[in-house]
This record gives sequence, C-alpha cells and structure tokens, in this order.
Amino acid sequence: MKNMIVIGAQWGDEGKGRITDMLAKTADVVARFSGGNNAGHTVIVGKERFELHLIPSGILYSEKKNLIGNGVVINPIALVSEMEMVENRGVSTDNLFISENAHVIMPYHLLLDQLEEERKGPNKIGTTKKGIGPAYTDKVARRGIRMSDLLDEEILRKKLMLNLDFTNLLITKIYGADPVSVDEIIESYRPYIAKLTKHITNTAIIIDECNKAGKGVFFEGAQGTLLDIDYGTYPYVTSSNPTAGGVCTGSGIGPVKIDEVIGVAKAYITRVGEGPFPTELNNELGSFLREKGHEYGVTTGRPRRCGWFDGPIHRHGIRVNGLTQIALTKLDILSGVDTLKICTAYKYKGEILKDFPMNQNIIGDLEPIYEELPGWKEDISEIRAYADLPENARRYVEFIEELGGVKVSIIGLGPERDQAICR
Ligand code: IMP
Repeated sequence: MKNMIVIGAQWGDEGKGRITDMLAKTADVVARFSGGNNAGHTVIVGKERFELHLIPSGILYSEKKNLIGNGVVINPIALVSEMEMVENRGVSTDNLFISENAHVIMPYHLLLDQLEEERKGPNKIGTTKKGIGPAYTDKVARRGIRMSDLLDEEILRKKLMLNLDFTNLLITKIYGADPVSVDEIIESYRPYIAKLTKHITNTAIIIDECNKAGKGVFFEGAQGTLLDIDYGTYPYVTSSNPTAGGVCTGSGIGPVKIDEVIGVAKAYITRVGEGPFPTELNNELGSFLREKGHEYGVTTGRPRRCGWFDGPIHRHGIRVNGLTQIALTKLDILSGVDTLKICTAYKYKGEILKDFPMNQNIIGDLEPIYEELPGWKEDISEIRAYADLPENARRYVEFIEELGGVKVSIIGLGPERDQAICR
C-alpha cells in the first residue's frame, strides 16, 4: 500500500468522503491534516448515513488507526459529540489519535468568527462560523492553545490568561462585546477534555511507524483547492492549506514519501459562501442541479451555488496539488441535461486566458468560454463498467481527461459505497 492523498479539486463538497471511504479500505492509517469541523463528509454504508466533520472516514473500518493531525483545529465539544454519535451507532473510537500539536478552537473563536462576519457586513466571507479563522489566527500569532495544553489544567489556565489578555481587549474594545472568562471556559471544556485526554499523542510517530512497517497512510483532505489560503479565491477562502502541500506540514510526513495525489472533482461545480464563481448557473438549471444533487451544506445546511465544470480551475488543481489521478463524482446527476457545457478558457478584456488567474481582483470579470457537449438521458447510477456508460457520458469524461491531461480513474455514480466505476 502506498501513501495516498485525497484532495478536493474545486471549492470543497466534491464528494471526498465517499471516495475516501472507498479508498481508505486499502490503508492502515487514515489521517486528517487541515481544517476543522467546518468540513462535512457524508459516508453511506448500507442503509446507514454518517455525517462526519472531524473524525477521519477510516473510523468506519474497525481495524484502522485514525489520526487528526497537527494542521487541524479542534473544537473539543464538536469532536466529543461526533465521537459519541458514532459510538452510539456501534462504531468504536478506540482507534482515534489526536495530535498534541493540533490547535484548540475555544469559545471565543466562535464568538470572534461571528463578530467579524457581522462587522464586515456585505463584505463578509460567508464562513461556517465554527471559529476556524480566529483559531488559525491565534496559531500564527503564537498565542494559540494546543491539544497538549489541555493535559494540565494549570498550564491551560496560564495559557488562556495570556491569550485573553489580548483577546478580551479585541472583544470589548473593537467589537464592543462582553469579555469572556477563563473559569467559564475551563468549566465548560472540562468534561470534553476528560474524554479526549487518552487520545492525545504524537501522531507523526504513528505515521512513521506505519511506513516503517511497510504500510500506507491515507491522507483525507477537507475543503478544496479553491478554499486554500494561498491557492484559493482569496479572501473567500478558509484559513488553512487544504492542498497537497498541507499534508506534510499538517501531519508530519516528508514530501518524497507521498506516492499518489487523487483529486476529487465533481462533474459540475458547487460553492458555498461568498465570492466570484465564473461558471455559476443562476437559473433553472442551477436549481435543477442543486435539487437533484442534494446540494446543501453538510455542516451549515446552506444551499450550494451550482455551475458548469470549469477547465482552467481543473488544471489549476492539477498543477498546485500535483494530482496523479482524478475521481469524478456525481456524473449521474447530469443525466437528463440536453446539452452540457464545459468551460475551457476565459475571456478577459478581449484577451483569452487559458489559466485560472491568481490575481483574484479580476475573477468577477471573467467571461467563460464554453465547449458544448451532447448530454444523455439514461439513468447511469447502476452502471458498474465504463464501457456500459452511454457514449455521451464517456465523451464527457474523456473531455475532462483531455482538458487536464490526468486520467479519471474513479467515476462516482451515487452515494452508496459500491456506486462507482473504477478504471
Ligand atoms: P471557514 O472555513 O468557516 O472560515 O469558511 C471560509 C469559507 O470556506 C466559506 O466560504 C465557507 O463556506 C467555506 N468552507 C469551509 N469549509 C468548507 C467545506 O468543507 N466545504 C465547502 N466550503 C467550505
């Protein structure tokens, strides 16, 4: 088994959970490396539907170790409630290991996320309001609280007091809200810390030991390339690196150890939150895709914006992640659309742009150039062999392969574990 990464190639919500679930069965360890409970993965096993936010999908396989790496930000209340949710459904969490270096989302991070979005008003990011941005802000400002700090209440108290010397000034003087109290935070977190303590460890060692035993690690991406703080549609991004590079810094593995980087791309594109979206369909077809594809956020329930597949975005994802394979999800949702469109380039001020611009100031003014492809009418959700797909569906897949120069090795045709074609 190899060390394999699964990355969202678009704006998140590409269906990484079900691809991870399919591929994780070949790995011995499954690891998260970035983001927090802003993510939402739906995994369907038989008649059971699991909505996971922080716990790696490998938890559904009893023999696998599941790691939450140092690059993740953790809300202890959210994590414990997710652990209890899976435990109540007969899934053990004994195999869950949490990096001692992962940063903790504190109640004041949730408060600051909300206050800052309100302050921004019409310029808001449209965050998930889970405190993600403020937790990463504290991390880089070197006043964050790490999981290891939870292990000793006196240390936790000292670090919280140091942090709140600053944060309470921000809360009261800038936002005009009420200060938060160290005692209340400690009281409210104590039972959750008690439950998490035995899971906190050095997760980089588990990865190393796994590799030394000749076994592979599966790195489960959250969010997507266009939500990356560096390679995404800044400032409408999350505050971490969900791209492949984030795996090394977010879990403690060296780059040469990575064997495969699988990009998950939806057969059309969706986005939640604010920000420009060149191929957005603000029409009946957009609503059709949203309803048929159940395009509502797993974490926030917000309706997702829908649009045509975007070739320059696809190539950007391939480039910045070094994608070696593509998993194309939700192809079944496009059945019944007469004519499909794929954006191949953009027009900007009379010029043709083949590449997705990194200058985000011009994204809102891009005019997509489309290639039209004939659709297919058949329900393809029960097809299991590539050759059995309607010719136009194959043409659509192959067009995407030609656009990016990377093979589509998995095609998702529905939410169930077996509803896919592996090529
Ligand atoms: P934050 O991560 O909560 O700060 O939100 C920043 C932006 O990322 C917002 O546009 C969110 O909607 C988006 N976002 C964060 N996590 C996800 C995800 O898992 N799927 C899709 N969008 C996400």
